[in-house]
Amino acid sequence: MKVLMVCLGNICRSPLAEGILKAKLEARALTGWEVDSAGTSHYHSGNPPDDRSVAVGKKYSIDITDQRSRQFRSTDFDRFDLILVMDSSNYNDVKRLATSEQDAGKVKLIMNYCAPGQNQNIPDPYWGDDGFEEVYWMLDAACSAIIANH
Ligand code: 4NP
Repeated sequence: MKVLMVCLGNICRSPLAEGILKAKLEARALTGWEVDSAGTSHYHSGNPPDDRSVAVGKKYSIDITDQRSRQFRSTDFDRFDLILVMDSSNYNDVKRLATSEQDAGKVKLIMNYCAPGQNQNIPDPYWGDDGFEEVYWMLDAACSAIIANH
């Protein structure tokens, strides 16, 4: 299963989502998965994850410091089986780039894995200071559900 995590900047939410899913796969010794992340914007291309995401990851023994931000590109539809977005604006931005029904069907809101049909957003923590812990635990629940469902 090839999974791409997508948010706006690829420095706060999707790097954590990538790190958490990889850690769970490693802990369960599950093979055959590929996990990456990207942003719908180019705002932070080439930059490491936000310090606050690095800190909350580190608190739970997940090291995301080697990740670098990159922008989502249309060829990602060919490379990945699943494109998991954090919120409804990511959803609209990525879906708009799909050129087939099959590609459009790869795009899903990540929280629908653990809260099916509720279309919950992972809140954008960038402009506040206290959202990172909540984001971490939402992603933790979603990533466990992703593994259970695939
Ligand atoms: P992310 O958070 O999409 O979770 O990486 C953001 C990062 C940067 C910005 C917004 C959200 N920004 O506007 O620069």
